[in-house]
Amino acid sequence: MPNKVLETKNLNAYYGDFQALFEVSIDLFEGEIIAIIGANGAGKSTFMRSVTGLIDRIDNEINYKGLSIKGLRADEIAKKGLAMVPEGRKLFPSLSVEENLLIGGQIKRLGPWKLNTVYELFPDLYDKRNIPSNLLSGGQQQMAAIGRALMSNPDVILFDEISLGLAPIIIKSIYQNLPKVIQKGMSAIIVEQDISKALEISDRVYCLQEGRIALFGESKQLTRQEISKAYFGI
Ligand SMILES: Nc1ncnc2c1ncn2[C@@H]1O[C@H](COP(=O)(O)OP(=O)(O)OP(=O)(O)O)[C@@H](O)[C@H]1O
Ligand SMILES: [Mg+2]
Repeated sequence: MPNKVLETKNLNAYYGDFQALFEVSIDLFEGEIIAIIGANGAGKSTFMRSVTGLIDRIDNEINYKGLSIKGLRADEIAKKGLAMVPEGRKLFPSLSVEENLLIGGQIKRLGPWKLNTVYELFPDLYDKRNIPSNLLSGGQQQMAAIGRALMSNPDVILFDEISLGLAPIIIKSIYQNLPKVIQKGMSAIIVEQDISKALEISDRVYCLQEGRIALFGESKQLTRQEISKAYFGI
């Protein structure tokens, strides 16, 4: 049995008095890719933000490699090896591609990723390295956001809406590159709107509905009908 790298136990998350997650227990094992699916507002981003230290008010446990990371700051969590490619990329718009990548590299962890290995993976970024990131296409911005996360040499990488808003050809290329991004020994959590893609890419899937886990299981074993029911609540 592989080691558990990340686990939440009955996680609750709040924005002020509004509760966005209810008793969410999710496990991620070493080398595993899990997908989180669910309708708009289901709580997918809130979950991703909770485990990366970006939600102020959470209850119950978040453990990373057997130790609690609850209450740690985002930069402390990143130092431990959890990196996120956030929804909407969240690059620094006026900074160049290279400056954005270097910001990811400020989390000094050992590993294969540095500027030249990121540029080898995404040659487009090399060509655009001195251009402000807001002048890049959506696909290039997503590559820059992935590159920035990789620059911290994470053990766990989280993708919030990995393909949303991108052209089909770009989506294809990002998925083709995923095995190089999620290297041996790494684990990943992918939030993906396209359910077929989510099932194809992941070992296991969790479906959130209104802040609660409505369904989870092995991606290959869940039926369409079970998923539709968990997704839409009908
Ligand atoms: N900053 C915020 N302040 C208050 N409520 C928020 C905030 N961000 C999200 N919410 C609410 O929390 C709930 C979960 O939102 P979240 O963004 O996690 O959903 P999601 O599954 O990522 O949705 P989407 O598919 O639209 O990205 C929603 O009801 C949303 O309106
Ligand atoms: Mg979201």
